[in-house]
Amino acid sequence: MCGIVGAVAQRNITPILVEGLKRLEYRGYDSCGIALHIEGKLERSRSTSRVAELEKQVAEAHLEGFTGIAHTRWATHGAPASHNAHPHFSRGRIALVHNGIIENHDELRDELRAAGYEFESQTDTEVIAHLVDHLYTGDLFETVQLATRRLTGAFAIAVFCRDEPHRVVGARRGSPLIVGLGDGENFLASDALALAGTTDQIIYLEEGDVVDLQMQRIWIVDANGRQVAREVKTVHAHTGAVELGPYRHYMQKEIFEQPRAIADTLEGVESITPDIFGDDAYKVFKKIDSVLILACGTSYYAGLTAKYWLEAVAGVRTDVEIASEYRYRDSVPNPNALVVTISQSGETADTLAALRHAQSQDMQHTLTICNAATSAMVRECALAYITRAGVEVGVASTKAFTTQLAALFLLTLTLAQVKGRLPEEREVAFLKEMRHLPAAITAVLALEPQIIAWAEAFARKENALFLGRGIHYPIALEGALKLKEISYIHAEAYPAGELKHGPLALVTEEMPVVTVAPADSMIEKLKSNMQEVRARGGELYVFADGDSRITSSEGVHVIRMPEHYGLLSPILHVVPLQLLAYHTALARGTDVDKPRNLAKSVTVE
Ligand code: F6R
Repeated sequence: MCGIVGAVAQRNITPILVEGLKRLEYRGYDSCGIALHIEGKLERSRSTSRVAELEKQVAEAHLEGFTGIAHTRWATHGAPASHNAHPHFSRGRIALVHNGIIENHDELRDELRAAGYEFESQTDTEVIAHLVDHLYTGDLFETVQLATRRLTGAFAIAVFCRDEPHRVVGARRGSPLIVGLGDGENFLASDALALAGTTDQIIYLEEGDVVDLQMQRIWIVDANGRQVAREVKTVHAHTGAVELGPYRHYMQKEIFEQPRAIADTLEGVESITPDIFGDDAYKVFKKIDSVLILACGTSYYAGLTAKYWLEAVAGVRTDVEIASEYRYRDSVPNPNALVVTISQSGETADTLAALRHAQSQDMQHTLTICNAATSAMVRECALAYITRAGVEVGVASTKAFTTQLAALFLLTLTLAQVKGRLPEEREVAFLKEMRHLPAAITAVLALEPQIIAWAEAFARKENALFLGRGIHYPIALEGALKLKEISYIHAEAYPAGELKHGPLALVTEEMPVVTVAPADSMIEKLKSNMQEVRARGGELYVFADGDSRITSSEGVHVIRMPEHYGLLSPILHVVPLQLLAYHTALARGTDVDKPRNLAKSVTVE
């Protein structure tokens, strides 16, 4: 999603800004731009193509300067067109980039039009640029504080002014913004990753902060205009570009990295102890009487899976809520609940807002399962478990999901232990199964050639149904999400028992029905549901295991999973569904790693 980089230095900063944008590229964007202060004027270049194209444009135009800002945009207000790309200018004096959404942009636009401003774009961002120009007092830092008080909504902005050549001002509310400290130079970015290789001295700005960035100093004020000191952290953001190696796409690479990612996520866990979630975890786990999981998309499906584990193994009542719904609902707060957020990026606006909503309702026992150790989610939760999936470049979550599941299973075992429901021999047996997961996933990945054969048939379809029962229902949901987001085939998932209550009407010989069918306690029921599909001509694609006793026949295609894995089976069964989505998308020729309209890190509501 949108990304910001800014710099004030005594050297040409163009390469730093471009490199920063490249590091943020994986988050998804549809246009990009850069603006610099050059010989008393504002100069800019914008592109609706990739950052590499912008880099060429900037080199051809010889855009070099000491002060500037750059941006990758994911369209919200206004189409992904050059005139809507950031930076936006106001009257040749103000240059501004923005992440987030300004909710009162219409009323501000009317006011600014009445004051004589003309608008070149449909964006809410241009409104802020004109507002800053309109309120300009001769001091940009002071002006941005005045302007941001007029804004409703979420934003992180970086601004500079033609008349103050060695200054960039940043402000944040609701969207992340960090300061990078250098020697005689300072930087701004929406993510520390953008500055990897430039500086590792990072300040995370807090809600409402405004920062004045100059070459030799930085100055921060809080939402009330009071000067504040914020802690400087040394952040070792990942520096090396992520190599594709022998793979065609990052998604394929990331699917195949899962054995390593799970092994890394479980590394160091010799036995079950609450400390792995933080120093106070034992006290908190002892106190809580239920779990409330908040997440979005794939992370939400990880939460749905965990509900089965937490209730069955730990005996702890668990609710799972879609973050963007929970925050706007009048729910009944329970101060004794453990609020668990699940997020790959740790910056998802809806999940962060849901967390803050829970905190504002007096729910202070918070824990996050997150893949980004320096993210807002980790900073704002009392307890954390960092999954070690590594950087996930493909927009579709794969290794992030399976590592979330591994971490959630650890949480389940820990709560079970604290609640006195985990006898030692069970703990030892579960840990042994968890340690075997990397090898078990490697065996599942070997099914790829069989899945490729199925994908060719899928690529010709426009609809698909996914069925699962019990703990594999969330896995069916995740399989359908993977297929729709990267192959653009319409896919829906149902708990198989629901078929006859409506969706069975959709089943014809044109409808492929993917069925997750491990030999668990639900298998006989699931087989009856499969009969219902066959009787209507639907073609079944079944992921079964050795003891499911389902065999291939006309209209029934079966791939056998190598092992039956009991409670941990969802972690294995999602892998062939990821491969099916990947190879179907490949056969349809879609942009697998950057599917249309989607962004990696969803930092707007
Ligand atoms: C789907 C996908 C999304 C994310 C969702 C939450 O493949 O990746 O559905 O799971 O946007 O993102 P995080 O986990 O970063 O909070």
